[in-house]
Amino acid sequence: MPAAVIGGTGIYSLEGVEVDAKQVENQYGIAQIYVGKGEHEDIIFLTRHGTDHSTPPHKINYRANIRAMKDLGVQRILSTYAVGSISADYPVSELAVLRDFLDFTHGRNFTFFDQIDESVGHVEMSQPFCSVMSECMLQLGAKHDVKVHDGATYVATNGPRFESPAEIRMYHQLGGHVVGMTCCPEVYLAAELGMSFAAVALPINLAAGLEEKITLVGGNISQVRSNMVSLMLDVLRQTTDTQCVPPVLL
Ligand code: HPA
Repeated sequence: MPAAVIGGTGIYSLEGVEVDAKQVENQYGIAQIYVGKGEHEDIIFLTRHGTDHSTPPHKINYRANIRAMKDLGVQRILSTYAVGSISADYPVSELAVLRDFLDFTHGRNFTFFDQIDESVGHVEMSQPFCSVMSECMLQLGAKHDVKVHDGATYVATNGPRFESPAEIRMYHQLGGHVVGMTCCPEVYLAAELGMSFAAVALPINLAAGLEEKITLVGGNISQVRSNMVSLMLDVLRQTTDTQCVPPVLL
């Protein structure tokens, strides 16, 4: 079955992967999906904000995207997020494997279980991210010339504004390590449809209040992004659907 890569800010194509564009319509709307060709025909790609970065975090049709992947046969997803770092353990320009999240989003379509005439579903979230793909990212980082740190907790804010320094201090006290605007509801929508989901965050700035003014990293970030993409494709090659434990519905 195909596996999917979801690209965040800065990831608008997959280097080395030829694709066909495909619009997939479902009851939630339209998803713009890219289907790999040739040796990559088992890869599905979605660039979350659009190739021209025109869709803001709160306007992304998360349900249409995740449903489209499910309907194309995807059983596991590897997703990337550009984030701000709240913690010295997750430096700018180095990768952070997500293991947990704090969800502060609101006003989004965040569940597939909202029809009163369908059965009630509660997805289990004690391990929100797939440990098999996560471990593989940690093992293969050096091969792809990127530093990969384990154990990050992602704070999902609604955006599109950035945070205030007091909010960042609060998120830090709550145990957050990186902050972004899109991991929720993506991670738990995928779980609701029974797909394994792993994620890697790339800090592109220190969060508000950690330096005088937010500055986005320049320099070698495009090289880091490209290494991150080759790492993700390798992880999908080295792991299988059956190894990845699907989420549990209670
Ligand atoms: N905050 C929220 N989202 C972000 C940030 C940030 O500092 N950097 C990149 N995405």
